[in-house]
Amino acid sequence: MSDNPGRNTINWYPGHMNKARIMMEESMRLVDLCVEIVDARAPLSSRNPDIDRMAKGKGRVIVLNKSDLADNNANSLWTSYFSDKGFQVCLTDSKNKSGLKDVNVALMAAAGEKLQRDAKRGIKNSSVKAMIVGIPNVGKSTFINAVVGKNTAKTGNKPGVTKGKQWISVGKNLEFLDTPGILWPKFEDPEVGRKLAYLGSINDEILVTEELAGDLLLKLKEDYPKLLLERYKIDDKALSEAEEDSFSTPQSRMLDIIARQRGCLKKGGEIDYFKTAGIVLDDFRSGRIGRISLEKP
Ligand code: G4P
Repeated sequence: MSDNPGRNTINWYPGHMNKARIMMEESMRLVDLCVEIVDARAPLSSRNPDIDRMAKGKGRVIVLNKSDLADNNANSLWTSYFSDKGFQVCLTDSKNKSGLKDVNVALMAAAGEKLQRDAKRGIKNSSVKAMIVGIPNVGKSTFINAVVGKNTAKTGNKPGVTKGKQWISVGKNLEFLDTPGILWPKFEDPEVGRKLAYLGSINDEILVTEELAGDLLLKLKEDYPKLLLERYKIDDKALSEAEEDSFSTPQSRMLDIIARQRGCLKKGGEIDYFKTAGIVLDDFRSGRIGRISLEKP
């Protein structure tokens, strides 16, 4: 079980962020395409606020990755949403290598203008250069490895990209910058921070694990009541039957119910909320509760 939401975290203090921005801008000059990986479960919250400015003039692709964990209906809505905004869009599950066939088509479509320009100039076999970018934990390395077909992409998070730029060939006329560009998430909006913490993408020190899990359960009760009932047997009836005292909240009562189901009790029978919260977050992140999207267009 992983109840450490910050395992892929970078502390984005301003100096770090500036350095990453400069490196990103340098790298962006070298490529034709900006392939932005987002988490399909929260595509807006997992986007970087400055990417549109940094990638101005480049062919744009949005990869809704981890689509296997997201709600199918929301996946369709997000695909239309980004298509309408002029992006080429792919839905992928990089972990299981699904949806990858569409990636090449989307990238070539995004590079259409460049390819036409090159053709007019008589450049044959012109090569399209692309850069993979995204905030930590959206699956950049997994995506590169899956598309390239062997484990050539470096894993681990570094700000921006490394100095000595290397390219990986992907098929005949496509090249990826070997190291993905790590972007910083939106910090200002607490709601965004909360969603990224649910996903395990940031370590929000302000949010206590128990609070995070309780709030996630409350959100699931509103948006996915059937899944909550199936996984934890929680509905309004169960909630009203659960012990209610003047201090208890729906969040704590839901955690109580789950703790008793899972035997998360300390010595003396006291409820181990931390352990229970870890189970809930882990169940959610691994898709065991079901396919859930945290936001819809
Ligand atoms: P990053 O480079 O953007 O930081 O992300 P990375 O590829 O390291 O992926 C982060 C986690 O997300 C990994 O899980 C990875 O397996 C998982 N992942 C990536 N793409 C997908 C996807 O499309 N679907 C699903 N379900 N998971 C995906 P991990 O638990 O950190 O590692 P591991 O135990 O899976 O190796």
